[in-house]
Amino acid sequence: MKRLPILVCFVFGLVWEGPLSAQTPPVYLIRQGDPNGIPKWYHGRQIAQVMGHQGAGWLERPEREVEEQPNKLIRSLRLKGDEVVADIGAGSGYYTFRFATKVPKGKVLAVEIQQEMLDLLSQRKQATGIKNVELVLGTEKDPAMGDSRVDLILMVDVYHEFNFPFEMIESMVKSLKPGGRIAFVEFRLEDPQVPIKLVHKMTEKQLRKEMLDHPRLAHDETIETLPWQHIIVFKKKGAPDQKGISSPR
Ligand SMILES: C[S@@+](CC[C@H](N)C(=O)[O-])C[C@H]1O[C@@H](n2cnc3c(N)ncnc32)[C@H](O)[C@@H]1O
Repeated sequence: MKRLPILVCFVFGLVWEGPLSAQTPPVYLIRQGDPNGIPKWYHGRQIAQVMGHQGAGWLERPEREVEEQPNKLIRSLRLKGDEVVADIGAGSGYYTFRFATKVPKGKVLAVEIQQEMLDLLSQRKQATGIKNVELVLGTEKDPAMGDSRVDLILMVDVYHEFNFPFEMIESMVKSLKPGGRIAFVEFRLEDPQVPIKLVHKMTEKQLRKEMLDHPRLAHDETIETLPWQHIIVFKKKGAPDQKGISSPR
């Protein structure tokens, strides 16, 4: 059975990157495609290029207030105020600092792989005096957040550009507390009116297909209140009891 994929790849000029065991995804295909993406595919989706730190100014464009309605996004996630929130791929901190003010008794971990972005985040932290933001240098495979400490993981316009999406999500699942959530905010590929490059958009169906590789995650809700973006929320299975000890669900 395991030989068939190798044969298919050989015939179509594709290369598997990763083990073939059914227990150990991922299976990435190496193949050219849209020039805005990298030559690597996951579950039929071409992975987008990482947005360089040179584009940090674009992340702060005032149009985002109208196009993305950050306050509506924050309200949709119904924070209590004492959570640990992780903003993975925080960029210049457009969402990081907005979330930090909503969790005054908690904190926001701002995770980045580009040191230049972390430098911007650090400057902004100093300039605003907002103290409950912790900066974390991650890697392409690991956001380096430690185990079972995060209530909510937020990824705004980020997941589609992970070079190793499977490894990133596996690591995030470990970092979540039982019952913790992961919220993906991705531009709707279903809507041709959304003026974003194709490899930087995702369908809900595609995202849910990719999350099937992570059996400890269950789809919780999809919130369609933003003009251009899906908010797709997954929960880590298992809920804390009143003493904070997790029990399988
Ligand atoms: C399009 S920007 C979005 C920034 C921010 N979320 C926002 O909406 O303003 C994507 C960011 O994700 C970061 N990124 C890409 N892959 C990453 C990874 N594996 N871990 C952490 N950050 C990553 C990039 O460095 C880039 O700053």
